[in-house]
Amino acid sequence: MNGKIALVTGGTSGIGKEIVKQLLSNGVFVFVNFGHHDHLMYEAKKELKEISNSFQCIKADVSNEEEVFAMFVKIKETFGKLDYLVNNAGMNVDNFIEDLDIDGFRKILDVNLVGKVIVTKFALPLLKKSESPSIVNIASRLGTKPCVEASAYCASEAGVINFTKTSALEFSKYKIRVNVVSPGLTNTPLAMMGWTKEEIEEQKDNNPLYRIGEPIDIANTVLFLLSDKASYINGENINVNGGSLLK
Ligand SMILES: NC(=O)c1ccc[n+]([C@@H]2O[C@H](COP(=O)([O-])OP(=O)(O)OC[C@H]3O[C@@H](n4cnc5c(N)ncnc54)[C@H](OP(=O)(O)O)[C@@H]3O)[C@@H](O)[C@H]2O)c1
Repeated sequence: MNGKIALVTGGTSGIGKEIVKQLLSNGVFVFVNFGHHDHLMYEAKKELKEISNSFQCIKADVSNEEEVFAMFVKIKETFGKLDYLVNNAGMNVDNFIEDLDIDGFRKILDVNLVGKVIVTKFALPLLKKSESPSIVNIASRLGTKPCVEASAYCASEAGVINFTKTSALEFSKYKIRVNVVSPGLTNTPLAMMGWTKEEIEEQKDNNPLYRIGEPIDIANTVLFLLSDKASYINGENINVNGGSLLK
C-alpha cells in the first residue's frame, strides 16, 4: 500500500478516522473528507499528525454535487490519480414511519446513498489512472436487516449494498474492484448517541461474541479489501458484526 493515494469520506470521526489512521500507518497519502464540523477536523488533524503528515483535509458535503466536484479538482491538481476510495460518510435520525418528516427521509438517502453515488462518479476518472484501483463502501447490518424507527437508514444502506454490486459489474472493464463492508453496532459518536448504557449492555449480551464493534474491526476489513491481498474479491458485502445477524 506504500505510496498509494486514498480518499476517505467522513474521515474526521469514528470509523472513517480509524480507516484514515490505518492507511497512514501503511504509507498511504490520504485525502480526509468531512462535511460540516471544523472542530472535529481540527481534533482529528492533531491525532493524525502523530502518525504521519501525509494527508490533506477537504471539506465537502458528499450530497452536494458542486462541493464534491470542487474536492476532486483539488485531488486532481495534487496527484492526478486515486488508488483507493472509501465511501464512509453517513448519518442517521431515528423516526417511526407514521411520524416521518419526508424531507428528513430524503436527507438521509441523499447523504448515505446519493452521496456515495456522486463521489463514485467523480472519482472514476482518477481511479482509472491507478494500477490497482479499489473502492470500499460502508453500509450497515441494517442494509440487510429491517429495524423499527430506522426506515430511511435501512433503505439507504440496502441501496448502498446493491449500488456496490452494480458498480462492481460496471467498473470491471476498468479493473476497479468494488466491495461493501456492513458494520454492526460500532463504538463511535454517531452510534453511541442513540443508545443508553443499559441498551448497550443488552446489545453486548445479545451478540455471539458478547461485545460491540470497535472502529479498528471495521478498518482492518476495509484495508484488507483495498489491498492486493483481496485482488479476487469483487462485489461482495462483508458483514463485520461479531455474528449478530445469526441471532
Ligand atoms: N457506528 C456504527 O454503529 C455504524 C454501524 C453501521 C454502519 N455505520 C456506518 O459507518 C459510517 C461511519 O459512521 P460513524 O459511526 O463512524 O459516524 P460518525 O462518528 O458520526 O462520523 C461520521 C463522519 O461522516 C462525516 N459526514 C457526515 N455527513 C457528511 C456529509 N454530508 N458529507 C461529508 N461528510 C459527512 C462527519 O463529518 P461532519 O460531521 O463534519 O460532516 C464525520 O466525519 C456511516 O456511513 C454509518 O452509517 C456505522
